[in-house]
Amino acid sequence: MSSEWFTIAWRDDAVVMLDQRRLPAEEHYLELRDVEEIAFAIEDLAIRGAPAIGCAAAMGIARAAVVSPASDAQSLICDLESARERLARTRPTAVNLFWALGRMSEIWNAHEGRNVEALREALIDEAQHIHDEDVRNCRAIGAAGLELVPEGACVLTHCNAGALATAGYGTALGVIRAAHDAGRGIEVLADETRPFLQGARLTAWELQRDRVPITVITDNMAGHLMCTGQVDLVVVGADRIAANGDVANKIGTYALAVLARAHEIPFYVAAPRTTIDLETPDGSAIPIEERGRDEVAILADHALVPAGVPVRHPAFDVTPAHLVSAIVTEAGILQAPFGPAIARQMNSEA
Ligand code: MRU
Repeated sequence: MSSEWFTIAWRDDAVVMLDQRRLPAEEHYLELRDVEEIAFAIEDLAIRGAPAIGCAAAMGIARAAVVSPASDAQSLICDLESARERLARTRPTAVNLFWALGRMSEIWNAHEGRNVEALREALIDEAQHIHDEDVRNCRAIGAAGLELVPEGACVLTHCNAGALATAGYGTALGVIRAAHDAGRGIEVLADETRPFLQGARLTAWELQRDRVPITVITDNMAGHLMCTGQVDLVVVGADRIAANGDVANKIGTYALAVLARAHEIPFYVAAPRTTIDLETPDGSAIPIEERGRDEVAILADHALVPAGVPVRHPAFDVTPAHLVSAIVTEAGILQAPFGPAIARQMNSEA
């Protein structure tokens, strides 16, 4: 991965993140100091992508600890609980958010009654561990997924499941990066991903930076390209994988999975185990975020929809497990039946 840019980083005086709303036109880093700023950055998609949202939330808690005036652990914990509550309201679908908040809560639960400065330090350390573990997980996902990518393949991806959506390297784009770095001679097609255009703006930006051959298509071109033999496999990320293997991901993923099945093209999902939610039995229980009108009805300050005409904006959909060819995690490749395979992998140490 290019070392000239990063998605999110902890600094002594701020959380620094690349403002993804401004890409590809501008590489602008935000310096965020309190939990409200970080929560808004998540809600407004300055940072997005399930693992990156988890990292931002963890750092949001650590910043809440730094800026809190509390002089005893009990008062600090009160402030941390409000921060957790605010961050938990930002986005409902990506389970990594709740996973990261849970990990941060374990730190203060274990520190109750202890020294307030030690608790602050422990929270900062934990947020940095969550970040660093995510980069390691993504690299392991790339290595595990390599065997799924044939020489010279044309790989279609949707949204952005790359370095920008994680602490670094990416999940779906981790598999793509690993295949490119291994000299497989692959080409990548990125769906533009209406309405926020994560594919056109973000996937294209980061793969171009890494010199991976990338071509952008509009979302409605995938069927034609599959039907005419121009796509060899699909690899996408996930926002939440239910215990039975149903996968919530960016709106449009389900349609791609149906198309892939119709054309007998493998459809792979790449995600860290922090995206697997054993508490959610199947996709019907995954909350689907509904976002506001403007992201659909306005593009670059131009109205696309007449005033007064309603729009819908479900930001995610659920791909049923039976349309998924395999799930790649940092612990290896999961095959159907996914329920037992997920349970085994989640209980293993690997
Ligand atoms: O709305 P977004 O941009 O946060 O949605 C992101 C996605 O759907 C990604 O595919 C998913 O989070 C996986 S990121 C590794």
